[in-house]
Amino acid sequence: MDEITLVATATFGLETVVKHEVKALGFDDLRVADGKIEFAATAADIPRANLWLRCADRVLLKVGAFTAVTFDDLFEQTKALPWEQWIPIDGRFPVIGKSVKSTLRSVPTCQAIVKKAVVERLKQAYGANWFAEAAGDYTIQVSLLKDEVQLTIDTSGDGLHKRGYRAEAGEAPLKETLAAALVQLSFWRKDRLLLDPMCGSGTILIEAALLGRNIAPGLRRTFAAETWPSIDAALWTKARQEATAVIDQESALQLYGYDVDATSIAIAQSNAVKAGVGADIQFAQQDVRDLWIDQQYGVLISNPPYGMRMAEFQEMNEIYIALNKMLRKKQGWSVYVLTADKKFPDYFKRSRPDRVRKLYNGRIEVNYYQYHGEKPPRL
Ligand SMILES: C[S@@+](CC[C@H](N)C(=O)[O-])C[C@H]1O[C@@H](n2cnc3c(N)ncnc32)[C@H](O)[C@@H]1O
Repeated sequence: MDEITLVATATFGLETVVKHEVKALGFDDLRVADGKIEFAATAADIPRANLWLRCADRVLLKVGAFTAVTFDDLFEQTKALPWEQWIPIDGRFPVIGKSVKSTLRSVPTCQAIVKKAVVERLKQAYGANWFAEAAGDYTIQVSLLKDEVQLTIDTSGDGLHKRGYRAEAGEAPLKETLAAALVQLSFWRKDRLLLDPMCGSGTILIEAALLGRNIAPGLRRTFAAETWPSIDAALWTKARQEATAVIDQESALQLYGYDVDATSIAIAQSNAVKAGVGADIQFAQQDVRDLWIDQQYGVLISNPPYGMRMAEFQEMNEIYIALNKMLRKKQGWSVYVLTADKKFPDYFKRSRPDRVRKLYNGRIEVNYYQYHGEKPPRL
């Protein structure tokens, strides 16, 4: 099968995590740049990459890349690419775009030029004058960075964060891809206890359960490239069968989620059931200020409210103090807190954070405060 280049896109700060995931899938010819990991693959890898990547936003198929400083450059070089290899005569191919620090600044014009060039190419390839654009999803992205153009077709469709389990979201839910990254950046392994004392709709715990059970996060959804005639449907079936066969049905997971809000707990429970991990997580309504833990070794990952409203200010201090009190003498616990509130480490005084990672939760800049606990003794 011909070699192609796939691009796993990543939110700012998560490139390294996505790089490790791509490597773990067996791809070793890869290049990391801001917001993306490019890797050599074949069309047969498109199902696997979409099913398994937990932290990437999308998997794009790179059709070509070149330098362009005039609209003529853009048109001619786009038209020279083999679009007919991927887009069938009835394929629907909207064009989206972005332009950063480039001579060709008008994104709508770039999109229109690319659309026209692809139409011209397909006219020649199919000997047709008009395209119904009635079937499938072949969203083209034209992306310009410092006059370097990259042209891709999106193989994912909906962003990969849409796993298919979150019909309902609580207040300020985390993106599933970010939650999966928080777990992968932590010391949590499937034999350790994991606690989220402000779990909201349960995303962190659900993603941990999927990871612990080795469940491919995309198993319960479909992808744009699933209907492409250029990818044999049997490849999708095979990738799904393989993913189903490797699910860990045996391990007993210790995952605990609490929230002061009863509705959030009900949503979390319902989402966990939809994700197929309802039996793996114990949820209960509980105020973190009244929570106590007896275990010595565990992992806490949480995303408290950001305390941005004045009314929350005092309450946030109380929450941080409660966390500090609960974990002060538990050096075996590893603690990970994602928040936009920069005063968190002033209150959580068990130790200085071992690492503070800058990330984005949507458009909000947040810090991931990481406190590494002592390793549990070997039994
Ligand atoms: C930013 S949200 C967490 C979102 C969650 N990570 C998700 O994916 O849905 C913060 C959560 O903290 C909860 N919370 C606020 N004060 C609390 C308290 N005192 N004790 C426990 N939970 C609290 C809120 O009800 C809310 O669900």
